Amino acid sequence: MSQSVVEGARTVKMLSGMARPAMALLLLGAFQVHQVHSYVAAVVEFSPDGITGPLVPSLIFSNNLRRYEEFVVDARKTYAADIIVFPEYGLTTTYTSNNRSLALEFAQIVPDKNDNIIPCTAYNDTFEYEAVRRLSCMARDNGIYLVANLIEKVDKPGAGVLLHNTNVAFDSAGTVVSRYRKFNLFGEFALNLTDISDISVFDALGARFGMITCFDLMFQQPAVELVKTYGVTDIIFPTAWIHELPFLTGPQAQAAFAYGNQVNVLASGYNEPEAGHTGSGIYLGKTAGDLFATIEQNVTSKLVVAEVPTQISQKLKTQIVNRNNIERNGINPFAQKPVENYMLITEDNLQDYTAVPVPKNMLKGTIQACDNMLCCNLTFEILNKDVFNFHYQLLAFDGIRTHLVGRYETEMQVCALVACADDTKLSCSNPFTASSYSELTEFGHIKIEAEFKSTLLWPNTVDADTMLPLSRSAYDFQVDNTTNLAVLERSEPITNVHTFAIYSHDYIK
Ligand SMILES: *[C@@H]1O[C@H](CO)[C@@H](O)[C@H](O)[C@H]1NC(C)=O
Ligand SMILES: *[C@@H]1O[C@H](CO)[C@@H](O)[C@H](O)[C@H]1NC(C)=O
Ligand SMILES: *[C@@H]1O[C@H](CO)[C@@H](O)[C@H](O)[C@H]1NC(C)=O
Ligand SMILES: *[C@@H]1O[C@H](CO)[C@@H](O)[C@H](O)[C@H]1NC(C)=O
Ligand SMILES: *[C@@H]1O[C@H](CO)[C@@H](O)[C@H](O)[C@H]1NC(C)=O
Ligand SMILES: *[C@@H]1O[C@H](CO)[C@@H](O)[C@H](O)[C@H]1NC(C)=O
Repeated sequence: MSQSVVEGARTVKMLSGMARPAMALLLLGAFQVHQVHSYVAAVVEFSPDGITGPLVPSLIFSNNLRRYEEFVVDARKTYAADIIVFPEYGLTTTYTSNNRSLALEFAQIVPDKNDNIIPCTAYNDTFEYEAVRRLSCMARDNGIYLVANLIEKVDKPGAGVLLHNTNVAFDSAGTVVSRYRKFNLFGEFALNLTDISDISVFDALGARFGMITCFDLMFQQPAVELVKTYGVTDIIFPTAWIHELPFLTGPQAQAAFAYGNQVNVLASGYNEPEAGHTGSGIYLGKTAGDLFATIEQNVTSKLVVAEVPTQISQKLKTQIVNRNNIERNGINPFAQKPVENYMLITEDNLQDYTAVPVPKNMLKGTIQACDNMLCCNLTFEILNKDVFNFHYQLLAFDGIRTHLVGRYETEMQVCALVACADDTKLSCSNPFTASSYSELTEFGHIKIEAEFKSTLLWPNTVDADTMLPLSRSAYDFQVDNTTNLAVLERSEPITNVHTFAIYSHDYIK
């Protein structure tokens, strides 16, 4: 397994490392002295030991913890990171999610933040404290905020042993500052749910952080509540996502949440491409909308590092995140080609969608697709067209979607322009390689508009070439909060459009 760094992020870090002291001085006059203007975040795309067996808990813990420590040291020493985030199941493998006896063998006791405990120094030699203690020591020894996900064990009188999918956050002294028990389990039949959704918020580094995990991203509780009710500005998101086209490949969903809810998202992905798990990134949804993301088709563990402006530091953003500089140096993180041989991408079932093909004989115009109460308008202009391979369709959906063989049902609404493999609507969920995007087809203008039931909407995009979402500055996205009219618009020429959509899931109420 290789261990490397997203090259773009390396450049960004170097730029900001140089820019920062000067800017800090400059800003002292304008702002109050105590305010932090940005912090450096590191997220780890991580392929744990144990995926290929054997599943001996003590061995897997010690190997993965040792590898975590290497990333912590690198993030801190090389990139001066202030916070590092590790993925869901990164210490235990996903095998623990559906095997309770295995999960029990890995389970750890996680202190409550109100206990104000530093597990590193409150030493307890038993195995069920080992991972938490080691993580606390990593945070403390390196002076860095650290978030990791593990299986938590709770002895609840009368209920027996409960097991949770838990994120634990340590401050730079190793103190447990927050704990979050995943509320929206995706299967994970070995684990237990909390009765009400856990709210995990902590203030640090000039931001207000809140934690959610993987499938939580799709639901109001607690993800949206953290933002709307608790004022969270930065979401910490350990995940073991499974890619799904056309709307939910990993970074696509991460960016959509960040831009739809106007928060920064620090997403750390479990890496097992064959099972559809990969995708990590840092998304600046609170400010400029830049993104630093990676999707890995081969087994990989690596760091993504970026400077994250906090709210008051708007002025810094162009200094810190300058895409032109990255490209001039020849290191463009957005320039990888899809291969897909080693990576699973599952397909959404679009049976109940309404689909209207973009007419093959039109270079500009407006078309409409309606489904139940939702009518989506697409206005388009095409500059160049691959006439032999053009199967763009406008999709509309207003209804109930299920996940995991009917286990979860949610109300949703979608308007989408998608590059499909042929003229049937089911082909709109086919892999990138089968689809008709083609570099030859260039749109000069794309506008999608509709009146939705909710104003909680995701601008949902993915580029077929990079398999990554467009950055927020690549389009306009407006939602009128009195009429619920949403408009997603790109007015500059663009190729490789795979998905360009407005997406609302469980956000109807
Ligand atoms: C569950 O894990 C145990 C080890 O604790 C193992 O012996 C067993 O084979 C696993 N069960 C399945 C179905 O994989
Ligand atoms: C360590 O934890 C175990 C299990 O919770 C407990 O029985 C034991 O007393 C603890 N040891 C110390 C030194 O605190
Ligand atoms: C916890 O989950 C296990 C496995 O699904 C289940 O058997 C047990 O009843 C649950 N405990 C509670 C209190 O819900
Ligand atoms: C993935 O691994 C295969 C087989 O080792 C190799 O041929 C291919 O170039 C790798 N792809 C990437 C994107 O690194
Ligand atoms: C969509 O187009 C139809 C027909 O041109 C028009 O009546 C309607 O107002 C448009 N809706 C939106 C939301 O733009
Ligand atoms: C609606 O949008 C306006 C202007 O952006 C804003 O001032 C107002 O607070 C919003 N209202 C609600 C209910 O979000």
